[in-house]
Amino acid sequence: MKLDLAKISKEALEEVAKATGEKELEGLRIKYFSRKKGILPKITQEIPKLSVTERAGVGTKVRQLRSKLQEALAARSEITKASTEQRVIDITAPGKKIEAGSLHPLTKVINEVKEIFHYLGFTTIEGPEVDTDTYNFQKLNMPPNHPARDAQQTYYINDELLLRTHTSNMQVRYLESHKPPVRVLFPGRCYRRDMPDATHFPSFYQIEGLAVDERISLTDLLGSLDFFVKGFFGPRTKMRSYAHHFPYTEPSIEVEVLHPKKGWLEILGAGMVHPRVLRNGGVDPAKYQGFAFGMGIERLVMLKYGIGDIRILFDNDLRFLNQF
Ligand code: DAH
Repeated sequence: MKLDLAKISKEALEEVAKATGEKELEGLRIKYFSRKKGILPKITQEIPKLSVTERAGVGTKVRQLRSKLQEALAARSEITKASTEQRVIDITAPGKKIEAGSLHPLTKVINEVKEIFHYLGFTTIEGPEVDTDTYNFQKLNMPPNHPARDAQQTYYINDELLLRTHTSNMQVRYLESHKPPVRVLFPGRCYRRDMPDATHFPSFYQIEGLAVDERISLTDLLGSLDFFVKGFFGPRTKMRSYAHHFPYTEPSIEVEVLHPKKGWLEILGAGMVHPRVLRNGGVDPAKYQGFAFGMGIERLVMLKYGIGDIRILFDNDLRFLNQF
């Protein structure tokens, strides 16, 4: 027996293309697919009778033809239906809504902080989330066994690598490759081993600021932060600072803003860059001084938008995200 599958395929597709209605299409379905008399099932039945060489690949080809034909029948059926049905267009129906995306509130706030500091000449650069113990701690004046490391519950990858616990990891790294004057922001993701609750999440965002130049003083820091606070929370917002301790700044301060309902709230840590940190970055502390600050973005988002639970920022719930 000789099988010309190509010819059968060509004829079948031509017949389908010419069919003008459901009746004809049904006839073709029977002609090719009917179990007892259909052409394709018949071919399948004949396969065992073919010689071994003739048989090779026939099964696959028949299967391909079967699906091609089924597709053609379905497509033709749609076309004939569409041309016979009377289509009713309701010109009063409302249009289809096109969903527009929006920025995540964290991204929005990061952009806003960047914009405010850009007025003061700060540029932005991002750094690695996986960093070394050296940049995250040691070069920031926190040698092994320093008590401040305890508070920063750290995810270690091995003895040297870790997930950064703060964006301060960028200070020395940046100074090593950039000569003063420096005015730069480091936004990015940080990690700490915290149990999630309304105000903690094991991953969060910070923005770090660093300014190094000749004759930079604490008043420059306070003036810059006041400019930020008024730009971000509103021109009448009150801010205050008090002495604190960070190993990498001396003196160190914490800054609070006056919230209309909640009273004084801490929003950031800051200080004058410790001479040892400057030296670690290759900067001569006899000639240059610097200030640095670091703030948690989630806290800013929550204060600005009145959000009570940090976890909602990471849920990816559109009912929440669509509001921004
Ligand atoms: N790294 C501190 C934190 O994670 C924040 C901070 C405090 C950053 C003082 C600074 C600084 O640059 O000077 O809580």
